Amino acid sequence: MIDKYEKGILISSAVVMMLFIFSLVYALDKKSRNITECLPYNKSYEKARIDTIDEKTYQVFMVAKMWSFEPSKIYIPVGSDVDFFVTSKDVVHGFNIAEKNLNLMAVYGGVGKTTAHFDKPGVYNIVCHEYCGVGHQLMHGQVIVNYPESK
Ligand code: CUA
Repeated sequence: MIDKYEKGILISSAVVMMLFIFSLVYALDKKSRNITECLPYNKSYEKARIDTIDEKTYQVFMVAKMWSFEPSKIYIPVGSDVDFFVTSKDVVHGFNIAEKNLNLMAVYGGVGKTTAHFDKPGVYNIVCHEYCGVGHQLMHGQVIVNYPESK
């Protein structure tokens, strides 16, 4: 005979497990745009740039290095879809845009890809959230949505 408390614990852990699985499947469906991919690496990812695919689609080749992001300011119009390809020139850095739930590691010799849709105007801060040395706290950038470029 199984103890009734043991039975209760078994049932509640089964319920919790199902909740976890349900939330995973739900997140995969609803948030699939944010799932990070690791791509085969080549040297072209070390060239920081913004490629315009069309007026609402951009590819940002982001290079993290001690202690800045390049490009550090990205100007796009509202409603844009942006693919971020993130690599590092030296140590391990982080790439985080909290408002967009983007969270990548920037690793030398590797590239991570993620996509975001910017449907509201504003300034989205990019921060390095992996400790990378004495200048770590200085390492940030911005995605600027719907503001004119000022030089
Ligand atoms: Cu780069 Cu911290």
